Amino acid sequence: MTKSRISPMAASYPASDIRKMFNLALDFPDAVKLTVGEPDFTTPEHIKAAGIRAIENDNTRYVANAGIPELRSAIAGKYSARWNRSITPENVMVSFGAMEALTFALDVTVAPGDEVIIPDPSFPNYMGQVHRLGGVAVSVRVTENNDLKLRAEDVRAAITDKTAAVIINSPSNPLGSVMDRADLEQIAALADEHGFTVISDEVYDEMVFDVEYTSIAEVKPSTAEVGAEFDRFLAIGSFSKTYAMTGWRCGFVIGSQDFIAPMALLQEGLTSSLPGFVQEAAVAAIEGPQTAVEEMVASYARRRELMVERINAIEGLSLLRPAATFYAWVNVSEWGLSSWELATRLLEDHNLATIPGSAFGPAGEGYLRLTFAVSDETINTACDRLEAFAAGR
Ligand SMILES: Cc1ncc(COP(=O)(O)O)c(C=O)c1O
Repeated sequence: MTKSRISPMAASYPASDIRKMFNLALDFPDAVKLTVGEPDFTTPEHIKAAGIRAIENDNTRYVANAGIPELRSAIAGKYSARWNRSITPENVMVSFGAMEALTFALDVTVAPGDEVIIPDPSFPNYMGQVHRLGGVAVSVRVTENNDLKLRAEDVRAAITDKTAAVIINSPSNPLGSVMDRADLEQIAALADEHGFTVISDEVYDEMVFDVEYTSIAEVKPSTAEVGAEFDRFLAIGSFSKTYAMTGWRCGFVIGSQDFIAPMALLQEGLTSSLPGFVQEAAVAAIEGPQTAVEEMVASYARRRELMVERINAIEGLSLLRPAATFYAWVNVSEWGLSSWELATRLLEDHNLATIPGSAFGPAGEGYLRLTFAVSDETINTACDRLEAFAAGR
């Protein structure tokens, strides 16, 4: 038997419909775009200055696999305070964005054939990364009946003796929802009972508007002994969204030392290390003034109101007010088209680029994801075009 030139894993890697829609939109260069999942702000000046200074000071060589000590320590300090528990630098691994943090988290917990529970809809790269490891993704539906929140009872129903990890994402891309503390406590208890790891993607943890936000690192499993801390988690964070640093590619994963230590070995064989100057900029992001973050979050909160008001005034559309992130998850099911067909028609006939809900999993059918990290003018123009589409149906 001859070997195929391309490995079965690479040949069957799931294509991203987000990327497909991006590529289609390239043919419409002046389309109004609500597709991009990143802040429309530039990186704050003091962070850029720290990166430039680091280059001028020749921090341009290889650095430690797990991240420079100053950054591991700054992240540990920030999250010890946020979570009110002791996080040491040894609990922190610095990564190329949250994407590589996810790679590490899955690498240390999942073996071929293991099952990984993921929400549907969710960030499509979860599916791809599980596939890359030869794992089996098991989807759990998240619907409006549950206020677009993943529920512990649905996770429980999907657990088998092959479950190695559960990926949760609160606040959620694309749903804009924040999970309830009670569900997190129950999922933590299930993790202890069944011996799986909770991989918690928390990259939008600072982009929460008017609800209480709880990290998996803050909960006590409902079944835990008094004083025991939950440690079957890997919490993923990023500088990308919080500090408008998507292109710097700096993220991290926090967890117990037995999970974190092997990640440095894996990094040696993957990329060796992140650039030291990027990491120095990240230290400045944490240790410098947080006013830019507060201003950006306030602006997303304000634009959310505009988006909610305009969308809910359009015949046939409905939008639950997102509690967090900069994504509107718009129910378009009354319009009767598949979300891909609708997104394509909006692009071709109205010069409006959106992401079809089905790009995030089968349960996303009947929805569009619209980004509101854009100007008021862009939100208004986009909503005018949706109105025009509604009028022409
Ligand atoms: C839910 C979620 N996780 C992870 C990422 C990746 O972030 P990073 O830029 O840190 O790799 C994104 C980016 O869109 C995201 O939406």
